[in-house]
Amino acid sequence: MGEPGGAGPIGPYPPGVETEEQQDEYDRLRRRVLWSLPYGLYIVASRAGERRNGMTINWVSQVSFEPKLLAISVEKTAFTHELITEGQVFALNTVARKDRAIVRKFTKPVEVDTAAMTLNGFPFHDGQTGAPILDQAPAYVDCEVRQTVDVGNHSLFIGEVVDTGFQADEETEVLRMEDTRMNYGG
Ligand SMILES: Cc1cc2nc3c(=O)[nH]c(=O)nc-3n(C[C@H](O)[C@H](O)[C@H](O)COP(=O)(O)O)c2cc1C
Repeated sequence: MGEPGGAGPIGPYPPGVETEEQQDEYDRLRRRVLWSLPYGLYIVASRAGERRNGMTINWVSQVSFEPKLLAISVEKTAFTHELITEGQVFALNTVARKDRAIVRKFTKPVEVDTAAMTLNGFPFHDGQTGAPILDQAPAYVDCEVRQTVDVGNHSLFIGEVVDTGFQADEETEVLRMEDTRMNYGG
């Protein structure tokens, strides 16, 4: 994962922000504003051939209802990026609030055990697209990539929902960024 929010102050700057100190201060302010945007927190699972991965992600949104499209933004250096680029599928897994500890375990390439069918020790099964779905995910959204948009140090993968469902009570509370002390981007 890159430095949160980039390696140093990044322009553009509004008028009046000129000195290095002002730029630094503005950079921090902009980061706090961007961090204040509410997000959900998910595990996005990917698959290419026999390679599978799961990764913590918050940059996720539905972006069309006809067709049903979901967009996720994935850092270009992530293993997940490589797998989605090759496999052209991903499965978004929601996380129960009570399972919040799981997100820390999916911030680097996971250990996959295909005999035991576990990702980092968490049981999974393959979804319709072949991407893994964690058995404990309250819900999953299985997608086929329809478009990839280059957005700087990330790629926006826009996927069409080809299968979805609940695996737990529909009322299960799902994890949001504010339930944790984490943030991303900014
Ligand atoms: C709270 C949190 C949110 C994250 N959100 C994203 C995200 O939206 N997009 C992204 O590319 N990486 C995100 N990451 C970083 C990835 O989880 C991390 O870079 C991971 O190492 C990449 O995994 P991979 O190399 O196994 O694919 C987030 C990390 C944390 C802790």
